[in-house]
Parts: sequence; C-alpha cells; structure tokens
Amino acid sequence: MAAGSASTWHYGVVARWWAEFNDSGPEIEYFQRYVEAGQPALDVACGTGRLLLPYLRAGLDVDGCDISEDMLALCRDAAAREGLAPKLYAQAMHELDLPRRYRTIVVCGGLGLGSSRDQDLVALRRLYEYLEPGGVLLLDNEVPYANAALWQYWPKEKRAELPRPRRPPGERRSGKDGAEYELRSRVVDFDPLAQQAILEMQAFMWRDDELVAEEEHLLTMTLYFKDELVLMLERAGFADVSVRGPYNDAEPTPDDDFLVFIARREA
Ligand SMILES: C[S@@+](CC[C@H](N)C(=O)[O-])C[C@H]1O[C@@H](n2cnc3c(N)ncnc32)[C@H](O)[C@@H]1O
Repeated sequence: MAAGSASTWHYGVVARWWAEFNDSGPEIEYFQRYVEAGQPALDVACGTGRLLLPYLRAGLDVDGCDISEDMLALCRDAAAREGLAPKLYAQAMHELDLPRRYRTIVVCGGLGLGSSRDQDLVALRRLYEYLEPGGVLLLDNEVPYANAALWQYWPKEKRAELPRPRRPPGERRSGKDGAEYELRSRVVDFDPLAQQAILEMQAFMWRDDELVAEEEHLLTMTLYFKDELVLMLERAGFADVSVRGPYNDAEPTPDDDFLVFIARREA
C-alpha cells in the first residue's frame, strides 16, 4: 500500500451522487457559528458545497478548495444557479497554495482521504500557515472504531478475507436531475500498521432505465485516533487544541463516532 497509490473516489458519478443527495447534516450549523465569528473562512475539502453553499447564502466570506475538479465543478454550478460565484481552488490539502489567509478554516470529512500519513502531516502544517494569528482550525474526524465493518479487519485472521467480494445490485436512488444512481462499496485492503484502508466504489447511473455510466474508483483512507491527531496538530504548530463530541460542544465520550478538533493558532 504505497503512499504514491493514495487516491480518492470523489469523481464522475460519485461526485454527482454527492451533489444530488448530500445537502444536510448537523455539521453545517455547528461550523457556521465559528465561520460567523471569524471571516474570511476557508472550507477545505469543500466537495459539492454541502457546507459552503449555505454559508455563501448567509452572506459569509468563505472560499473553498478540494482535490476533485468534478466536485468543485458541481459546487460552482450549484452556486451559479443562485447567483453566487465562490472562489474555489482545485488543490490537495497538502499542496495548498492560496492568495490569502483566513481567520477560520473548516475541514469536514476530509482529513485522511486520498493521502498518505506524511501528506496529512504536511496538510496540517499548511492549514496552520494559512490561518491568521489567532485564527481557528475546525476539523472533524471519524474514530477508527466507529465503522464495525472496517474495524473487524484489524486482526490478521480476518484480513485473510480481503479483498471482499463485490456486492450484488442493490437499491437505486432517484436524483433531482431525473437520473437514477447506485453506489456499491467494498473493502479491498487494510493495513493496521499504517492504519490505512483501501475501499472500492462501483458507481452506476441510469437514464430512462438505460445504464449510461458505470465506474470504479478507489479510496485510500488513513484512520486516526483522538490523541494521535492531537499530537499531530501540536506538531503542526497548534498550541491550543481541544476535542469535542460530534457537533455538540460536549466532552467527547467513548460512544462518539465523530470527534471535532478545535485548534487555535497563537495570536
Ligand atoms: C466526504 S467528502 C466531504 C465533502 C464536504 N466537506 C462535506 O462535508 O460535504 C470528502 C471530500 O474531500 C475531498 N478530498 C479527498 N482527499 C482530499 C485531499 N487530499 N485534499 C483535498 N481534498 C480532498 C474529496 O474530493 C471530497 O470532496
């Protein structure tokens, strides 16, 4: 599982799926409070604009960036339909090269995707650099034990079952664009030493019951535990790091599947 093989699956039909079906969630309102208190803001791994579009609608000064041109194109189209023209940058997190700094940076569902552990460390340093002094980074992360389907592959006896067989056809979802969609994922490989999974996504799109697109994508996902990520943030330069429960400002508990890391750059 070489670092060079890192990839994400947010392209083509998968990007369309995001644009069609992913437009809600508690993250939007939770992070919005921080963005309201600290502008300009940057939405890193903004995807098709699940957070960015509501923030722009609210009149907030927010730019976006994402590794996937396909996700950004759909975000740009949706924004244009509302008369909005956000600044969107097609860049990997670890290669950020932007014209301005920010008072708030949000990374929602983005860290550890399509990158190596070394690249993630570089990414955290870049995020630190792109914060104004006193600025705040908000980053959420799914804990490695949240996903029981994946957690079972940490012991080597279970890993012998990888790659898992492909899934049989399931249910199609109807998009607002008149097409029907289906995604089927499976675990291909898991490396507990690197804490990295490789997942495969098959993506299908039909129009008038005719299959018009069929794709396969791989996603590399590095999993991070709470204290490991706190240390990484400290290594990236953040002095003041706190961890909260999922979008609720509460102390984290063992039952939380997602944690929110709030890291401040010294004033
Ligand atoms: C799970 S989606 C989240 C999108 C958006 N933040 C949201 O919450 O709706 C992950 C996004 O991260 C992007 N991504 C994956 N790896 C990336 C990387 N190394 N650098 C920047 N963006 C990345 C994908 O293209 C995708 O748009």
